[in-house]
Amino acid sequence: MRLLFVTSEIFPLIKTGGLADVSGALPIALAEYGVDVRILLPAYRGVIAKCGQVKALGRMQPFHDVFCEILETRLPGTEIPLLLIDHPALFDREGGPYHQPQSGDWQDNALRFGLLSKVAAMLAIPNRCQQWLPDMVHCNDWQTGLTPYFLQQIGSHVKSILSIHNLAFQGNFHADWRYQLGLSEQDFHPQGYEFYGQLSFMKAGLQYATKLSTVSPTYAKEIQTAEFGFGFEGLLQSRQSDLIGILNGIDTHTWNPASDPFLESHYAADSLDNKTKVKRALQQELGLPDSPHTPLLGVVSRLTYQKGLDMLPEIADQLLATGAQLAVLGNGEVALEQQFLQLKQRYPQQVAVTIGYHEPLSHRMMAGVDIFVMPSRFEPCGLNQMYGLRYGTIPVVANTGGLADSVTGGRITNTVPSDMTGFVMADKQPQTLLVTLGAAMAAYANNGHWQTLQKQAMADDVSWHHSAKQYLLLYQAALAA
Ligand code: ADP
Ligand code: GLC
Repeated sequence: MRLLFVTSEIFPLIKTGGLADVSGALPIALAEYGVDVRILLPAYRGVIAKCGQVKALGRMQPFHDVFCEILETRLPGTEIPLLLIDHPALFDREGGPYHQPQSGDWQDNALRFGLLSKVAAMLAIPNRCQQWLPDMVHCNDWQTGLTPYFLQQIGSHVKSILSIHNLAFQGNFHADWRYQLGLSEQDFHPQGYEFYGQLSFMKAGLQYATKLSTVSPTYAKEIQTAEFGFGFEGLLQSRQSDLIGILNGIDTHTWNPASDPFLESHYAADSLDNKTKVKRALQQELGLPDSPHTPLLGVVSRLTYQKGLDMLPEIADQLLATGAQLAVLGNGEVALEQQFLQLKQRYPQQVAVTIGYHEPLSHRMMAGVDIFVMPSRFEPCGLNQMYGLRYGTIPVVANTGGLADSVTGGRITNTVPSDMTGFVMADKQPQTLLVTLGAAMAAYANNGHWQTLQKQAMADDVSWHHSAKQYLLLYQAALAA
């Protein structure tokens, strides 16, 4: 099977969130199953410099006044071909893939990701850049949502999958963009790509892709309801038989406490004492008292409404009265950043806050904290709770989406239930978070129980092994459709 995997971010080249981690790991797992996979990504600033040899394949004209160059290289550390769309005016910019350096989306995101979507479709039909043609195009999120539409527009029979990583981001733009992107007027209606008078990339993908997937079985059900569907619940219900939830895996090489290059000491399930060394080093790094027996709670996250972390400042006084420590690494909504910074000022001996995006520190946090806090309001999959499992850092999670599918809660009485790997909140109330964190800290106080829980968490298979196989079955179903 020849597969073109289209994405707007990929670890280790460019990352804003979990999509990059998935894009950097799933194609590798698929290649191990014999899939002939190539990846397509825009050549953002700095990406070319991070790649090895780069070869120019040729020029394309996706829209009548837009030309771009297609480059070929390898995904660093692998043999997997990586195709880059070189259009310096659109992609070689200071700032993030979606945002300007300060704040605010790029004003021409419709064109930038319309280009990504169109090039993907053009690479699926005979073209001057390469002879290789895919049997299947795997699109990810709204940034690639127009690809299934363009495939149909250019008369290709190549099948497409759209994976929804987060339905909250939809790529809705002023309808006039349809002219520049060459979308047919006939399809500008509710059964096409129109969404409340706008042009919606996500909707186009949901409408025209052969099959749909999302990143956990529970989220696949949730998005068919008004609470989680963001207006697409009806469409998703109508495509129910084409929609499947496949739980993400994690890259178990990049995230391995036994070899993680960002850690000074390493550990595994049979050497958990070394985890305490990592914890003390982290406490020192963050300027907290390095007391090994104080429970250290951690957050590594985008600070947005989705993640439910505004609950933490709300319960902080009661939580910190127990003597626990809290370490936060994240950035996002300024008001929430401020709330955490104020908390740090009020509790300098117990709270450490790092505002920003910091890859090495995120590894030291995943390894060094005892309890990982993730009370998301919705969570398509979530990766950090799985990094937590792998690092024996016990997750406390909300009962939603991929959190519900990856963490097994339970009640510890005299013994730890044999399938328990973390703590799951009964509902999404701040007081419930407090109670659930209390249960986790009570378990932490019992060394025997805690180590049992850590070992069970670390024994969980969070690799891509199983999920990559499910994608293969999905591709086969799409080919047969
Ligand atoms: P989402 O994609 O919704 O943000 P995920 O849990 O799927 O959530 O993935 C988040 C990814 O981004 C993880 O790899 C996490 O470690 C990383 N991450 C989030 N915030 C930060 C940060 N401030 N510094 C470093 N890494 C971060
Ligand atoms: C999105 C979701 C997150 C998921 C990630 C990768 O960013 O918010 O839950 O883990 O995509 O699929």
